Amino acid sequence: MRASVRKYTSQPVSDELLNTLLEKASHTQTMGNLQLYSVVITRDESMKERLAPAHFNQPMVMGAPVLLTFCADFRRTTDWALNRQANPGYNNILSYQNAATDTLLFCQRFCDLAEAEGLGLCFLGTTVYNPQLIIDTLHLPMLTFPVATITLGWPDEKPQPSDRLPLEAFMHQETYAPYTTERIDALYAHKESLPENQHFVEINKKETLAQVFTDIRYTAEANEAMSLTLDEAIRRQGFQGNFSSGKKNPRPESLECDIVRFQNKKDRWVAFVGLLNGRPYEIFTGILDDDEGIMIPKSVSNGHILRRVLKDGSRRYDFQFTNKRGYKITIEGLSERFNPEYWNYAKLISGILRYGMPLENVIALISSLQLDSDNMNTWVSGVAKALKRYMLQNSPEGENAQSLEDIDD
Ligand SMILES: Cc1cc2nc3c(=O)[nH]c(=O)nc-3n(C[C@H](O)[C@H](O)[C@H](O)COP(=O)(O)O)c2cc1C
Repeated sequence: MRASVRKYTSQPVSDELLNTLLEKASHTQTMGNLQLYSVVITRDESMKERLAPAHFNQPMVMGAPVLLTFCADFRRTTDWALNRQANPGYNNILSYQNAATDTLLFCQRFCDLAEAEGLGLCFLGTTVYNPQLIIDTLHLPMLTFPVATITLGWPDEKPQPSDRLPLEAFMHQETYAPYTTERIDALYAHKESLPENQHFVEINKKETLAQVFTDIRYTAEANEAMSLTLDEAIRRQGFQGNFSSGKKNPRPESLECDIVRFQNKKDRWVAFVGLLNGRPYEIFTGILDDDEGIMIPKSVSNGHILRRVLKDGSRRYDFQFTNKRGYKITIEGLSERFNPEYWNYAKLISGILRYGMPLENVIALISSLQLDSDNMNTWVSGVAKALKRYMLQNSPEGENAQSLEDIDD
């Protein structure tokens, strides 16, 4: 009987075997025969290092010779349609669900075939807990989404098969049979009696095994927080109608904001980087201390950007921070404080950030802009500098990220 394998020998898994297994797995059932999936193969150690935090640094990520990230993919089908005078409509949650179903079926078929070949593997559900880091690292475009990761290698352990509930627990004849207290007692008795499970209850100082799951392993707080992250990432990848329908994402009224100060040639600059779920969402930037610019106390490094809709329907962005004495101070009209040309470009760049383009690509795009005036070119390199900080945070070196002043263009 099979079991998940979490320790692997150093023997590589050949491209030839991997390709054969993936090709065979692709004959699994798939919606409309469209194959709504892609798989990203990771062998490079530095790429594994970048992915590991998304999987809470579970040791198998670095320990396995190969990682496979299975992604729901409506991108390819959409591109095919766009290249063939066809009008795709896959930027919605149903399409996400269909692509995710296709992907998991493909992934499971691959797992069966790989295990039959003697390979060992472990499914990492953490993929959907921290999807944005995976999306950024693997450069996953709009209309794709990581739904499963498999660590794969030749087994260096032979784990015992784990217990399962008896067949009656999950099989219903004709209609769904409710679970009475007596049935629950009977169905879970074996699992609860296992010494390893009793040990879990004991070391976690809980009364029941179920409490180990609800209070420690999968808590309401963690599930709720990660549901928000998941929902946001699915939306950013274009699966809720915001890809080509022209509808904009609703922007929260208040966004957390980092203040990034940096030196650009001779001038001191400041960037206000609005963050949604820790990721840059919008940016305002310009020269600090300019009479027309912005004065903020040196000690202030974060705050909030508030968006206000004025009576005439126009929008204004204010920066609010809490001073040392605990009072809220608001600087009104961030948009008017800076050169209007900066503001127009800032709007464009914020638009790109909002739609989830990977940061590396945003920075590459910004850095490639060739603008007429020196002023604008200086501004552009300032924005790129301010955003690089968030790219470093997402990389393993991010913990001790360089200061911005150290970064050369
Ligand atoms: C949705 C899902 C998420 C999982 N996530 C993890 C994980 O993050 N880490 C891990 O070690 N195992 C993970 N597993 C593997 C399960 O822990 C394992 O399948 C289960 O305990 C039964 O053990 P067995 O596969 O050896 O029969 C996951 C499995 C599934 C289906």
